[in-house]
This record gives sequence, C-alpha cells and structure tokens, in this order.
Amino acid sequence: MLKNLLDIKDLNKSQITEIIELASLFEHKKAKSSVEGKNLALIFCENSTRTRLSFEMAAFNLNLRVFNFDADKSSFSKGETLKDTLQNLCAIGIDVAVIRHSENGIMQKTLADMSCDMKLINAGEGNISHPTQALLDFYTIKKHLGDVAGKNILFVGDISHSRVTRSNIELLEKFGAKITLCSPNCFKSDEFSHIEWSDNLEKCLKSADVAMFLRVQHERHDNHCNGQISLKNYSENFGLNLNKYNKYCKKSTLIMHPGPVNRGVELDSDILDSDVGKTILEQAKNGVFVRMAVLELILNNVEIRGQEVG
Ligand code: CP
Repeated sequence: MLKNLLDIKDLNKSQITEIIELASLFEHKKAKSSVEGKNLALIFCENSTRTRLSFEMAAFNLNLRVFNFDADKSSFSKGETLKDTLQNLCAIGIDVAVIRHSENGIMQKTLADMSCDMKLINAGEGNISHPTQALLDFYTIKKHLGDVAGKNILFVGDISHSRVTRSNIELLEKFGAKITLCSPNCFKSDEFSHIEWSDNLEKCLKSADVAMFLRVQHERHDNHCNGQISLKNYSENFGLNLNKYNKYCKKSTLIMHPGPVNRGVELDSDILDSDVGKTILEQAKNGVFVRMAVLELILNNVEIRGQEVG
C-alpha cells in the first residue's frame, strides 16, 4: 500500500512503473478516479507555480475537494509546528496533505512524530528531495526514449542545491541510466562522487540523450557560486543557446528543465521559444497525469506492488 510519498528511495522499480503506467492511463482517458469526494490540503511553505497548480489540477480531475492552506496567514505565524498543524488538519477531516517546505528532513521527522493516519506527499523539501518532479521527468523521458537503461542523461548547473537532481538520480539509477553531471566546480557536490562529473558542457552535450538544465537557485546561496563566477560567464559556459545546440547536440537530444527557468542564464530564448524547448512545457503537462496517479494510488489504498509500508 502506498501510504505516503516522501522520497524516491521509498519506492522500488515496480512501484515506480505502476505510477507511470497509471499516469499514462489517465493521460489517455483510460482510467477513472475512484477517490472522488476525498479531501486534499495544499500546504506550500515555499513558493511554487507548477507543482502547486498541477497538484490542484490533478485533484480537480480526480474530483477531490481541495483546501488551499495559506502558510503566511496560518497559525505558523503564532509558532504552531508543522506536526501540530497537520494533526489539526487531520482532525478537521483532511485525507491527504501535499507539502512543500524549505527544511531538509522535516517530512520524515514530522511523519515519525504524527499520531493520525492522514497521508503525506512531498512536493519539494529543502535541497534534498522532490519525488513527484522526478516521476514526471521519468514519465517525460520514457515517452520520448522508451527504456532509459544505458541512455546518457546529463544534468547541467546548480547541482549542489538541486533537490530535483537528487530525486532524479535516485530514480534513474534504479533503471540503469548513465548519468553525467556538468557544473562549475563550485556547484559540485561530494555526495555524487560516484557519478562522472565534468565542467566541459560542449563535450558532455555530444553524447547526451537528455540534457536537463537546472535553475541557478539564487535564493539558496547569497552570493552566486560564492562570487567565483559571474552570471554572464555562467551562461556562456553552462547555458544553452540554439547555436550551441546545433553545433554539439544530436538531433534527438531532449532538452529539459524542471522550471522555473532563468531566461538567458540556463537557457536562451531561442531555445525556449523554439521546438527544441517544447519538452519543458511537456514536463509541466505530464506533471498533472503523474500527480493524478500518485493521488489515486495513495488515497485508494490499493496494493502498490511490493510496498509494505508508506
Ligand atoms: N519544478 C518546480 O518544482 O516548479 P515550481 O517551483 O514552480 O513548483
């Protein structure tokens, strides 16, 4: 039974495949909601456009009742903890809470402490995990490339601050993808010492089947790369424009970005506004189907292959 979705590490290959297959059924209108009327709360303690709205769209498509929790106007301002907040929402009748929070480890810590059985979904946690983003990226890649085993998947940019990269690596490694990381030295992370790393984007692009560009997360570091690299220098060396794409990429290379994009930093407008950049909006669209599948499986309490506990 999929009780909660806090981390990709909690899912095995079979469970991930089940989510992806159900997402495809929802996309092609071959599956219906069996969870209508249940109550979902959106608790976003960090800003969001795609994740929040696509969870809301997914919930409407499943005929759930959606309760938008305004963190700024909530009793967080009076010092109420996340655990106490969630226990009160559970008492009020919320069945599932979708949570985004800036603190690493808060999801597991809160879950371990809770005494009610409301389900929890991680919608982005600090810089450590963003499981539904990894699932929707996997769904998007599979639609274009099929099996990812042996495929070259390149992540470019602000690796050390990226929860998207962490969750994607955890997922893609389970399915045998060959991952390469490309970044300035100051965005390198020791945590990924087992993965090939380069600071030569042109070289990396030549073999990439997928190149996922990552947002430079200004809010997670005061001084861009500790002042070691200017934005102009960053975009020249680690950004992509159409000229570089045509020169170094295979015709089939998928250009992806989880969003939001810093236009002109990670990707130039000639990429974003052309066919080369269209996969990025597909990622956003696919997020709705993947989140419908996650909500359906969690709220329906169906046996998800092999998982004993959430
Ligand atoms: N990709 C992503 O998490 O986007 P938002 O921050 O807009 O939700």
